[in-house]
Amino acid sequence: MKIEDLKSIPIGYRNTPLEPMPRLAAALGLMKEAAGADAADDASRCGLYIKRDDLTGLALGGNKARKLNYIASYALENGYTALMTFGGVQTNHGRLTVAAAIRCGLKPILVLKGQKPDYLSGNLLLDRLMGADIYFVDTAAADALPAAEQAAAKQRYTDECAARIIAEYEARGDRVLSVPVGGQTVIGSAGYIQAVPEIMAQMKAQNIRAKHLVVGYGSTGTFAGLWAGAKYYHAPFEVIGIPIEPDFRPVEETVDFINELSEYFEMGFTCRKEDLHLEFGFDSACTPAAAGSAADPAHVGYGGVGYNEPDAVTESCIELLARTEAIFADPCYTGKVFHGYVGLLKRGVIRAEDGAIFLHTGGAPGLWTKEHLDHMQEGYWSDEAKDRVHTFKL
Ligand SMILES: Cc1ncc(COP(=O)(O)O)c(C=O)c1O
Repeated sequence: MKIEDLKSIPIGYRNTPLEPMPRLAAALGLMKEAAGADAADDASRCGLYIKRDDLTGLALGGNKARKLNYIASYALENGYTALMTFGGVQTNHGRLTVAAAIRCGLKPILVLKGQKPDYLSGNLLLDRLMGADIYFVDTAAADALPAAEQAAAKQRYTDECAARIIAEYEARGDRVLSVPVGGQTVIGSAGYIQAVPEIMAQMKAQNIRAKHLVVGYGSTGTFAGLWAGAKYYHAPFEVIGIPIEPDFRPVEETVDFINELSEYFEMGFTCRKEDLHLEFGFDSACTPAAAGSAADPAHVGYGGVGYNEPDAVTESCIELLARTEAIFADPCYTGKVFHGYVGLLKRGVIRAEDGAIFLHTGGAPGLWTKEHLDHMQEGYWSDEAKDRVHTFKL
């Protein structure tokens, strides 16, 4: 089938803003010199742009809305009555899947990894507000197994639990569409294939040139969709992926997935491993495992110290974006990708003169999770930090 023929429903906004970041460019010392009338036009001189997919609208927005426009449409077309998905306790994808289900009159089911936390915060609070049916799957017992067997045992148990939940729903007359972690499906990635012509049209309308598009690499559907879209629509930019954790998805799997996209949507190209551009932020002598070692901060890459683990470098990047452009990145995903974006500019891997877009994929509720709030107390609300905040008392 041709990508243009795939149906979607507009539960999330498209045409999110593509905006210049002149204050960030100035802070990084990257503002082009200009004379005359051009000098006043900071926006056209800066070369740094942000694509605001944090503003996709659905339940506080984020990249998964574009995937869910297609996934929810598929669910409705095929007679499903419930949407079930998986993730960590603070999954943004889970929040948006719950929202998409509600908007479409489907039942929202979340299967979350780990133990039920004592304190409700961040995305989990929003999931509860929306009334999702939530199941926790605690696989801690598998940690006692030999390391090589743990992942498979955890996956097996999660699959068993999912099958039990589906059976319960089906016994009540429902049909459950099970959406994998991150909405990582061919149908979901269509949302990001189709984001490419949207970005190209905005670039044309706003007279923007950009040779680079920097995006997060998590479950990889966003990166893969953009890569495929850029190839298919002959985009002027290269898509660069920033892994959002040291233990990232193998590139070979992403290559296979992109080729599956090409085949399914009759796009007519083949992707090879060497065609993909990922940037890790550590030198090649440092293995991904070592890159995540908190004991060796010199080797902490763009992916930080671990999945959704607070780290000071990512936090300083979140602060930079907030203080220059008043835009909030999150500690689990976009703070890390923004770290990569700034790092690549500083290293000259990408250049402001060539134009570089940072894709903001949302996730701000992550700032209000218990773990990150606790960590940020140290930097922003220690006794010393508090002393810099004034009080007037009548
Ligand atoms: C805010 C945010 N950004 C980026 C990503 C990564 O996107 P993908 O899983 O498509 O690689 C996610 C995934 O959940 C996310 O929640």
